[in-house]
Amino acid sequence: MEILDGKVLANQIRDNLKLEIQKNSLKPGLAVILVGDNPGSKVYVNMKEKTCNNIGIKSFKYELNENTTEEKIINLIKQLNNNQEIHGILVQLPLPKHLNSNNILEHIKETKDVDGLTAVSLGNLKKNNESFSPCTPKGILTLLNHYNIPLKGKNVTIINHSNIVGKPLASLFLNNHATVTVCHEFTDNLVQHTKQADILISGVGKINFITEDMVKENAIIIDVGINKTETGIQGDVHENVKNKASYFTPVPGGVGPMTIAMLMMNTYNSFKRHNGIL
Ligand code: GUN
Repeated sequence: MEILDGKVLANQIRDNLKLEIQKNSLKPGLAVILVGDNPGSKVYVNMKEKTCNNIGIKSFKYELNENTTEEKIINLIKQLNNNQEIHGILVQLPLPKHLNSNNILEHIKETKDVDGLTAVSLGNLKKNNESFSPCTPKGILTLLNHYNIPLKGKNVTIINHSNIVGKPLASLFLNNHATVTVCHEFTDNLVQHTKQADILISGVGKINFITEDMVKENAIIIDVGINKTETGIQGDVHENVKNKASYFTPVPGGVGPMTIAMLMMNTYNSFKRHNGIL
């Protein structure tokens, strides 16, 4: 059993980006919009800001209050679309209930959609004409790739069908010729699908949701669950699954750090495209 160490790989990726960014006097810029007081979102946004500062990406943070209107957010996005210092725009999700995230995200200019969540980016990914992929799915593929794990012909089961994780992740695996099953809370006989998986991805949000009996011998387990406990964060996967897995991602230190590293990479790639370097 081997750990897929997202912390170490994310560190390497960030160090490489930092060196690249130092070579140019022009700097990439990332704008992050946070609406409301969701404590988890605040933590993530602060981590993104800190990482930007660390590697030489200019961070522009916009903290708007809970009651902000859709119109106000869209106007801000339009300003950022036209701001030459900014190469990436991210609206932290989830948004407060009165806001329609689908509507809002569509106003992000395609060339600055470093979060990969607009219809154009998701459509391009589906067509294997990828520009920006959402960061968590891209982080998972990058991690598997780093450990030379073959995907072609493998059975992949994903438990999550969100726009941000499950759907784009399914596209990325399909583009790499895996056979993909996407499950969710309404899936009948979930175990039938998890047991056939060579690679199992769980993004459910329930502690110990995946147990040993649900998993095939030597399966590769990717834990996207983030569950808060008194002692810190924990994933979806029970300890006993490690007895059976060939590889697994720890929580924390697996997929999480990769997500932020991919956001930095997408922002740097956008900067290069805007400056005609790529
Ligand atoms: N909330 C949790 N993860 C993410 C992410 O990758 N992007 C955005 N925009 N919001 C998130």
